[in-house]
Amino acid sequence: MAGVPTPTLPRIPRWISLRNSLRFAYNPIATLDQYVAEYGPTFEFYLGGMVKGILTTDPGLAQHVLQKEHRKWRKSPIQTERMGYFLGNGLLTSDGDYWLRQRRLIQPGFHRKRLAGLTAIMNQEVDDFLDRRFEPALAAGQPIDMSPMMMELAFRVVAKSLFTTALTEEDLTLLADTVTVVQSFIARTFRQPYLIPWFRFSGQYREHKELSDRFEGVILKYIQGRRSSGERNDDLLQMLLEARYEDTGEGMTDRQLVEESAILFVAGHETTANALSWAWFLLGQHPEVVERLRREHEAVLGGREPAFEDLPKLEYTQQVIDEAMRLFPPAWITDRLCVEDDQYGELPLPKGSRVVAYIWGIHRRPGLWDEPGVFRPERFSRERRKEYHPFAYMPFGGGPRLCIGNNFALMEMQLVLVKMLRRYELEWNPGFEPELQPLITLRPRNGVLMRVRRKGEQTGVEGLNG
Ligand code: HEM
Repeated sequence: MAGVPTPTLPRIPRWISLRNSLRFAYNPIATLDQYVAEYGPTFEFYLGGMVKGILTTDPGLAQHVLQKEHRKWRKSPIQTERMGYFLGNGLLTSDGDYWLRQRRLIQPGFHRKRLAGLTAIMNQEVDDFLDRRFEPALAAGQPIDMSPMMMELAFRVVAKSLFTTALTEEDLTLLADTVTVVQSFIARTFRQPYLIPWFRFSGQYREHKELSDRFEGVILKYIQGRRSSGERNDDLLQMLLEARYEDTGEGMTDRQLVEESAILFVAGHETTANALSWAWFLLGQHPEVVERLRREHEAVLGGREPAFEDLPKLEYTQQVIDEAMRLFPPAWITDRLCVEDDQYGELPLPKGSRVVAYIWGIHRRPGLWDEPGVFRPERFSRERRKEYHPFAYMPFGGGPRLCIGNNFALMEMQLVLVKMLRRYELEWNPGFEPELQPLITLRPRNGVLMRVRRKGEQTGVEGLNG
């Protein structure tokens, strides 16, 4: 390195990060976007005024850390220890050799071909949800908030994909409620790390740990039930139960099964629900896109139930989902900690550095994207997608820790769009603007209100706001 000038990154002084910490806690994206505008694509800052990191909207640096040099980088303790304390040591929260062993064990179960068996469960669950939960809400004649609807739907889809029919309504509600409370608490510890001593002192840490223990207790009951009944189902739990380590030929213990199932619940519902909610927000404003979607659904499916083999043919539907996740990436940020000295171009990245890939910023960075704020699904046509840097679009992360549920999520989202557009007209509710709420995932803070009516019915929704 002798003689090579070391580039220095722009640095946001700690006092500025601290001064902005309340604003950051309310909406980190607004603060980070302002930093990017002022300091450029890569700079040093203090996350929540406390934790030093290098934030980047450079897809090359994101790829370097997540993929090319991933051996020198680990998931940060924020993701492993803090989330792991509440959520257990599953794929999302584990690291190192243990993570690799688990990933190798579980990965084949998420292969596209294995997922084919889940299409029937998903189709059934979406229909059921629309009949039992969505229709009664529609009957009230008021605008519908799509956000809690999609949250419940996505939770049910993961729950049924894991445990099929065995799950009772009561347990399902308990699981959904506890996971929501625990997740928002974890998100608070991320955004306001300076409050952690208070959370511990006031007993909030313990209370939330007890809640997550209850959550795990319910999951354990189903795992033990399945083991003892000897029943076989074509679901994710069966896949987890039957998976065998290559070296020992053994399966997972009950504890491991609980931890991995809990992580699938957590990682698999809120992300998908947010992607769908934002997709409705965008579709509500783009009737021409809805028309084109319907034409594709008609051409590929006619009126029949979508089968697994149909999904790759629904190309435009896929493009709409991709574009919705570009504009509103449910996982809007991720970070890695350097465990061995590294270098990106001229930039030294000594051991201990933390790189924060600002996925939201990458997805909206001018220069990477033409008119980045505009909803234009055609960007993701087969020809055009080759034009982009491989990490310019990274809703599922990248490298060896790429989301294991990406195909599951894409399949679910395609099915939901097909089924809902077949049954309903969904329109934007004028005067309503959703606000960003970037917690662990990117939620719409005040929901996504839409006017919905059954297709072919003339009577609209009454009593709209504004
Ligand atoms: C639109 C929906 C989804 C999005 C945007 C999403 C996004 C992501 C991202 C960005 C990561 C990587 C995080 C990092 O590297 O720091 C990830 C990891 C993960 N996701 Fe997803 N996810 C989605 C749906 C799902 C579903 C449906 C499941 C399971 C059923 C799932 C399970 C997981 C797991 C287990 C990991 C950890 C993988 C590992 O580290 O080996 N995700 N997800």
